[in-house]
Amino acid sequence: MKVLLTGAAGFVGFYCARALLERGETVVGFDNLNDYYDPALKQARLEQLRPCANFRFVHADLADKAAVLGTFAAEKPDVVLHLAAQAGVRYSLQNPQAYVDSNLSGFMNVLEACRAQPVRHLVFASSSSVYGANTKVPFAVSDTTDHPVSLYAATKKANEALAHAYSDLFDIPATGLRFFTVYGPWGRPDMAYFSFTRALFEGKPIEVYNHGDMERDFTYIDDITSAVVRLLDHVPQRDPSWTGNPPVAGRSRAPYRLYNIGNHSPVRLLHFIEVLERLTGRPAQKVFKPMAPGDVQRTYADVSDLRRDVGFEPATPIEDGLASFVRWYRQYYKV
Ligand SMILES: NC(=O)c1ccc[n+]([C@@H]2O[C@H](COP(=O)([O-])OP(=O)(O)OC[C@H]3O[C@@H](n4cnc5c(N)ncnc54)[C@H](O)[C@@H]3O)[C@@H](O)[C@H]2O)c1
Repeated sequence: MKVLLTGAAGFVGFYCARALLERGETVVGFDNLNDYYDPALKQARLEQLRPCANFRFVHADLADKAAVLGTFAAEKPDVVLHLAAQAGVRYSLQNPQAYVDSNLSGFMNVLEACRAQPVRHLVFASSSSVYGANTKVPFAVSDTTDHPVSLYAATKKANEALAHAYSDLFDIPATGLRFFTVYGPWGRPDMAYFSFTRALFEGKPIEVYNHGDMERDFTYIDDITSAVVRLLDHVPQRDPSWTGNPPVAGRSRAPYRLYNIGNHSPVRLLHFIEVLERLTGRPAQKVFKPMAPGDVQRTYADVSDLRRDVGFEPATPIEDGLASFVRWYRQYYKV
């Protein structure tokens, strides 16, 4: 199987590429290696993949339609794993255009390429942030997602709608993955677990939003990778039993499905900081702040669809996952 994997130099993309290469698949990585966070970390991830004979890398931008269509035409992938995006909730208030370019124009280019060069399965990253202002927990795929509270979330919701339309119109089997706060070794420096760890080692203060009254369904990267690889093989079919009167949420007549991939075990922010203090051996200097704009108080995944369809659910406890992360951090940054 040949997989075109966008975002291959990114955190989740790197792990998925490695898992697919280990399984013997051919992986064509696509990434623009932008500097939203330290590009050296992206290069270091790529260095791990490059020695594999089944790996090729295309350095290009999703917003460059000719580059996307050209890569699809040249490579003729069987499956597309589309993970490249402008991530981050807070940055979407500072630089909205980056989200329009990568997550809207870039996403459309991927859909157009799948239309021009049919693929067996398009799997793409969505986000738990689509649940927005919802407070009913756990968040289920059948819940409404009509109240996004950040531009980032709105672009992910738009991706789901665009993919659904193309799936129905052009018979493109498509699966959207709502990831819940992914963490682990080789992770993203802009995320709290990473920036807090850095601050603890450097003796700097950390900003604790909503005065610490936050919960996140932290999901360990190995669990995310296992779920993604299983779902790549689980190609959705049209469902003639679906009815539009009233429309059954979370399912479709199109060959299109959505899944939550989360640990279904929310962790209190203050507990998470205590675990990091223990693992780093450094006390945190907490600066309590109000809720940040665009943020949500709690995330919590209902993963019953994932369990039913691929017989797997994330389960790594935060203590184990953060221990692996801090071990990697010490080694990588030599602290
Ligand atoms: N990590 C999480 O907690 C999380 C949670 C929910 C959803 N997601 C989604 O999962 C996906 C992977 O996230 P990640 O944590 O690995 O992020 P990441 O930023 O580490 O990886 C994304 C990669 O895409 C590349 N990229 C961005 N814009 C591009 C463009 N226009 N053209 C080509 N390449 C481009 C970046 O250079 C980067 O290497 C993203 O779609 C993200 O929105 C992640």
